[in-house]
Amino acid sequence: MTTVAIIGAHSVLFEPIVKALKQASNVKFPIRAVTRKIGPSEVSDDKVKYYEATADDDKTYDPVLTGTDVIINLTPPSVEESKYNSILKSIERVGVKNFKFYIPSQFGVELSEFPFRPLVYIKQQHSEKARKLGLKTVDVFNSYFVNKGGFLDTILAHLGYQGDNKVIIRGDPDQLFNVSHVDDIGLSIASLIDNVDKASIPDTLRIYSDRVSQKEFYDAYEKRHNVKLERSYESKEEALRKATEKLNSGFKPADFLYYLNVGVSQSPEGGFAFKGDGRDIVNPGEKYFKWRKFANFYD
Ligand SMILES: NC(=O)c1ccc[n+]([C@@H]2O[C@H](COP(=O)([O-])OP(=O)(O)OC[C@H]3O[C@@H](n4cnc5c(N)ncnc54)[C@H](OP(=O)(O)O)[C@@H]3O)[C@@H](O)[C@H]2O)c1
Repeated sequence: MTTVAIIGAHSVLFEPIVKALKQASNVKFPIRAVTRKIGPSEVSDDKVKYYEATADDDKTYDPVLTGTDVIINLTPPSVEESKYNSILKSIERVGVKNFKFYIPSQFGVELSEFPFRPLVYIKQQHSEKARKLGLKTVDVFNSYFVNKGGFLDTILAHLGYQGDNKVIIRGDPDQLFNVSHVDDIGLSIASLIDNVDKASIPDTLRIYSDRVSQKEFYDAYEKRHNVKLERSYESKEEALRKATEKLNSGFKPADFLYYLNVGVSQSPEGGFAFKGDGRDIVNPGEKYFKWRKFANFYD
């Protein structure tokens, strides 16, 4: 049986991961949910127990990580760089050998293909650091995910949406990129724990639910919202040139979603249209669940 700790209980991925883990057969309950502050809605029961800990003080992770087999980290890259690796200090103190594997907070672009490496340096370096400690570290890359009321629903700047029903489609409008439903991310992680032998767990798990083009995405958006978008276009080459020039004059955090969008424009390169070889590891031939179809993502 596997004891799982999830760090960042207010992440959008927390609920779908917990939902899937509750159905898993090898997970030992309670799941350990780590938050900086236990609020009135965080009530422990026999399935989920809440703990308080913060990256500001790495020792606060020690009690929850003691006796944990698998750690799922959902903290954002906006955590101060000096604090981003603090979990690793706790892991070292508890003893690297005591953990089956560690899932760092990736859950997006395939870092090795992304054209603007300095922007993902913190995430990349964190995984490298974890591996250097001898910790089995599994980067889960799922390209963009959709969570209703959030990413790729109301938040669309990372797909060129400019507000006021205007969108810039960067790159080939018909080129497919990967999208994931948050429930499939949860199910993939649960399957990794339940069904995959530790020795065959890869360092990089590339998964997605479905593939969609920007044209298809915005056609569906127009139907869902009963609006007509004003579309303008930028070629893949132009998008990369402009973004490179912009980045050379200094990175502004407010532009992060724009740079992600330029990553999409480079599909099939760029880190958003990667081959989903991890799908065959966690769900060969859809043995454990059906991958969600984009057409049903917003039901
Ligand atoms: N592929 C995509 O489309 C996509 C979209 C969004 C995000 N992502 C990725 O998915 C992961 C989760 O993102 P998210 O949007 O859920 O992140 P988020 O909401 O910004 O943060 C997740 C949780 O981390 C905890 N946290 C925040 N600051 C912390 C700190 N200083 N110390 C310790 N814990 C802290 C908070 O939980 P508590 O309040 O409970 O402590 C927070 O709710 C990230 O790696 C992000 O890059 C991918």
